[in-house]
Amino acid sequence: MDDTGALDVLLNEVRVFRPLPQTIIEANVNPQEVTGAYRLAQEDPLAYWEEAALELEWFRKWDRVLDSDNPPFYRWFPGGQCNIVHNALDRHIRTVNRNKLALIWEGEPGDSRKFTYFELYRAVNRFAGALRSLGVRKGDRVAVFMPLLPETLIAMLATAKIGAVHVCVFGGFSAKALSERICDSQARVVVTADGFYRNGKVINQKAIVDEALNSACADCVDTVVVVHRAGVDVDMVSARDIWYEDLVRSEAPETRTEVMEATDPLFLLHTSGTSGRAKGIVHTHGGYMVGVARTMNWIFDIKPTDIFWCTADAGWITGHSYVVYAPLLCGTTTLMYEGHPLYPQADRLWSIVARYGVTALYTTPTLIRMLMRYGSQFPRQHDISSLRMLGSVGEPLNPEAWVWFHRHIGRGECPLMDTWWQTETGMCMLSPLPVSVLKPGSVNKPLPGVEAEVVDRQGQPVPPGKGGFLVLTKPWPGMLQTLWNDPKGYAQAYWEKIPGVYVTGDVARKDEDGYFWIQGRADEVINIAGHNIGTAEIESALCVHKAVAEAAVVGVPDKIKGEVAKAFVVLSEGRELGEDLVRELKAMVRRELGPVVVLKSVAFVESLPRTKAGKILRRVLRAQELGVDPGDLSVLDEE
Ligand code: WT7
Repeated sequence: MDDTGALDVLLNEVRVFRPLPQTIIEANVNPQEVTGAYRLAQEDPLAYWEEAALELEWFRKWDRVLDSDNPPFYRWFPGGQCNIVHNALDRHIRTVNRNKLALIWEGEPGDSRKFTYFELYRAVNRFAGALRSLGVRKGDRVAVFMPLLPETLIAMLATAKIGAVHVCVFGGFSAKALSERICDSQARVVVTADGFYRNGKVINQKAIVDEALNSACADCVDTVVVVHRAGVDVDMVSARDIWYEDLVRSEAPETRTEVMEATDPLFLLHTSGTSGRAKGIVHTHGGYMVGVARTMNWIFDIKPTDIFWCTADAGWITGHSYVVYAPLLCGTTTLMYEGHPLYPQADRLWSIVARYGVTALYTTPTLIRMLMRYGSQFPRQHDISSLRMLGSVGEPLNPEAWVWFHRHIGRGECPLMDTWWQTETGMCMLSPLPVSVLKPGSVNKPLPGVEAEVVDRQGQPVPPGKGGFLVLTKPWPGMLQTLWNDPKGYAQAYWEKIPGVYVTGDVARKDEDGYFWIQGRADEVINIAGHNIGTAEIESALCVHKAVAEAAVVGVPDKIKGEVAKAFVVLSEGRELGEDLVRELKAMVRRELGPVVVLKSVAFVESLPRTKAGKILRRVLRAQELGVDPGDLSVLDEE
C-alpha cells in the first residue's frame, strides 16, 4: 500500500432491502429504542454497557464500569464478581427455563441427543466435580480437543464453572498444532474423544492427542479424559488416560460455582491465523458475558420459542460465543450438528432446519456459496419456513451470495445479519439489527456502544466512499484482555500501529449513509498502478457472473503496473470453461469496477485452499503463483 494507506473503491452496489412492517412490529428492540440506544451510547457509552450488565446476575456489583487507567489494558467491571456459568445455567434452574431445551445435538449418522437446562446443569456439575477431583483449580488450564459433541459444551462450561480456563483446539487440527497450543497454555488436562464421524468416515482423534503429548513441553498434562463417540480402538495410557463415563459416574449432580472476579480469564483461544503464528487470545468472565449476551439478544431478536443454530464448530470463537455462551445466557435452545454439511447429500442443513424447526440460522459465506452452487432445488425439498432470522460471519459475503441466501433460504423476508467481528473482539461489533435497512455486501454499522472508523495510516478518517484501515476507537466489553504470556505483543499487534486505536487488520470503506463495507485483509490489498484495491471487490465482481461459484484474487508482480490481479475461479455446477469465459470474466470485472483493475489471468480450480475454519487462504495461492514459501500450513484444511 502507499503512504496514506487509502484504498480505491470501485464497486457500487445499490440494492437496498427494507425490513417488513411485521418484522418491525415484532422486534424486541424497535426502531425508536434503537435510536435511543445509539443516542445513549454516543453520549455515555459506559452507561449503555452498564445497563446491559444489569440484565445479568452478579455476586458483587462492580466498582467501576471501565478502568482505563493503563491503556491498552482496559479492565471491564473491575470489583465486580460473577461467573458466566451462573448466568448461562445456574440461574435458569430457578425459572421457567428449567425444563426447556438448552441443547439439541445431531450426530452425522443421524443419532440425536437433547438436554433440558436442568439436565445440562446436572451434566456440567458432574464434570465440574470430576475436574475438581482431578486437582484442577481456579486459574488452571484445561485443553478441549473435541469433535462437536454435547460433551464439548459440557467440558467448556464445567471448566469455567470451577474457575479454570478452557483452551479449545479445533478437533480437526494436527498433533503439531495441538501440542503447540498445549505447550503455550501449559494445560493440566486434555479432554478429547476416541474419534468422530466426518463425511461418512470415522476419524481417529485420540491417536492425535497421544502424538501431541510426545512433545517434551507437553508434560504439563497429567490427565487425558476420553469421551466414547465412534467406537474407535484406542490405547489408554495407564495413570494418565481415563474414560469420561468412568470419571463422572460417581460425581454428584450439584457442585459449587466458583466466584470469579469480572476480570479473571474465562478462556484462551488461539487465532485461526490466516496470516501467521497462532496467538493466545484471552477473554474474561465479566465483559465477555455482557458483550455476547447483549449482541445475541439484539441482533438475533431472541424469543422464547427460538431454536438457534450457529453452524460453527465450538472450537472457534464463533462457536464459543454463539453456539455455547450467548444462547445459554439468553435462555434459548442451541443446536449443534457434528458432521459435514453436505453429508450424505447437499440437503443436510435443510433437513435439520425442517426436522427441529430451526428459527435462526447463523453461518458463513463459504457455506452459503457452497450451498448456492448446488442450487435451490435442495432447500425446496424441505419445509424451512420456521426460519425467521439469518446471519453470516467470517468473510465478506458477496452481494450475489447475499441475495441468494436472502431469497432462497429467507423467502425474501428474514432479516439477514452480516456480522463483522474477530476472535479478539469476542462479540459482534458491526452488524445490522432486525429493523435495519440492509444493503447486500455491507456489514451495516457499528452496534450501539461500539465505535469504529475507517482511517489512513496516520489515523485520520478518510472521506466517505474512500477505503482505509478499519479501526475501533473505543474499548468494548467483549474485548480481549491481552495475549497469553505476551502483553507486549498485545499492545504492539493491536494498539501501536496507529496510536490510540485498535487496528483490526482489515480494510474497509464507509459510504454516504455511514454503512461499512469490508474490502478484505490489509495485508492482501493489491496495488495496481498506484491504486490500492481490496480483494473482496474484485471477487464480488467476478461472482456476478452466473458461471462463477466462488473466486479468490491475489496480486502478482507486473513490470508496468507494479501489480496486477490474478483470479482463481470455481465454476458453478454444470458450467464449462473456455476462452470465451475468460474473456467474459475480464469484461465483467471491467464493467463492474472500471478500467483500473487489470485482471491479468484467470485459473479455473476445483476448490480454493481454505483454513480449517473455512476462510480462503490467498497467501497459499499467491505463494504457489510466485514459487515462494507459503508460510505456516498447519491451518490449511485438507478436505
Ligand atoms: C476476521 C476475523 C469472529 C468471526 C469468525 C472469524 C473476517 C469476519 C466478517 C464479515 C467480512 C469478516 C475479517 C476479520 N470477517 N466477519 N462479516 N465480513 N469479513 O474470526 O478467525 O478471528 O477472523 O474475519 O477479516 O478480521 P477470526
